[in-house]
Amino acid sequence: MNSDSLEIQPTDRPLIEKGKGLWNADLLIFSSLDSTNRWGIENFDSCQHGAVIWAMEQTAGYGRYKRRWVTHEKKGLTFSIVLKQMPEIPVTMMVGLAVQSALSEFALNALLKWPNDVMLNGKKIAGILAETPAGKKGATVGIGLNVNTSSDELNSIKLLQPATSMLIESQKTYDLCVVLGVLLQKINNVWEEIKNPESLVLQWQKYDFLADKNIVIRTETEKISGTYRGIDTTGKLILEENGGQICYLYSGDVAIVELSEGEKNIKP
Ligand code: BTN
Repeated sequence: MNSDSLEIQPTDRPLIEKGKGLWNADLLIFSSLDSTNRWGIENFDSCQHGAVIWAMEQTAGYGRYKRRWVTHEKKGLTFSIVLKQMPEIPVTMMVGLAVQSALSEFALNALLKWPNDVMLNGKKIAGILAETPAGKKGATVGIGLNVNTSSDELNSIKLLQPATSMLIESQKTYDLCVVLGVLLQKINNVWEEIKNPESLVLQWQKYDFLADKNIVIRTETEKISGTYRGIDTTGKLILEENGGQICYLYSGDVAIVELSEGEKNIKP
């Protein structure tokens, strides 16, 4: 996108700064937006491939199934990337690997929980949401990362699963611009390096939070239990059901089930 072609849709939220984001496209910084994903979808046509939309505050951020994504102002990173060309691999997983790699630069060893969560010490630190604007090719991929959020701030939010932040895990505060810079660099690297689905699966296996765990998956229509057997090359979860049958799931909420010693022994 060049500055002449940028058409900012009517909003009462000012654009505060403009720089360069991914692949030399625009980095648009807003003091406040309802949702960077919503903005990216609404302004999809006027954005170039790789435009980055960053909001210091989101008033109506959301995640999967339109669940609220709450970030205290300037405590976390909330941004979206507009992609006009899509990678050959599932984009949320590609971005998950990039977030994992970015966190490792800050000595934080995160794991990836299918389909779109980044976990640290068993708690969620980041979520990724890819949405395709109706009738268009491409996606707006949103990333929410808890950076300088305190335990009290996280405790004030009703959460589906325990959450954490970079601050809580390291007792350090971080410059949001620095963290964003590392994230964008890593997204670029993963985009360049992981070109085929087989490499995605291999990389995912290295950081798989669910590896060999007994799990329950709730989909919109059912609840299925079994043993997690990884992901396939299209990003589907492979589940070995308790009867031994293998099934492939493309969406759902996963919870780990801790089996007692007795229960482990009667598993087929
Ligand atoms: C999830 O965990 O379900 C995904 C959360 C995604 C949150 C990010 S924050 C930036 C972008 N804007 C949104 O409204 N959502 C995504």
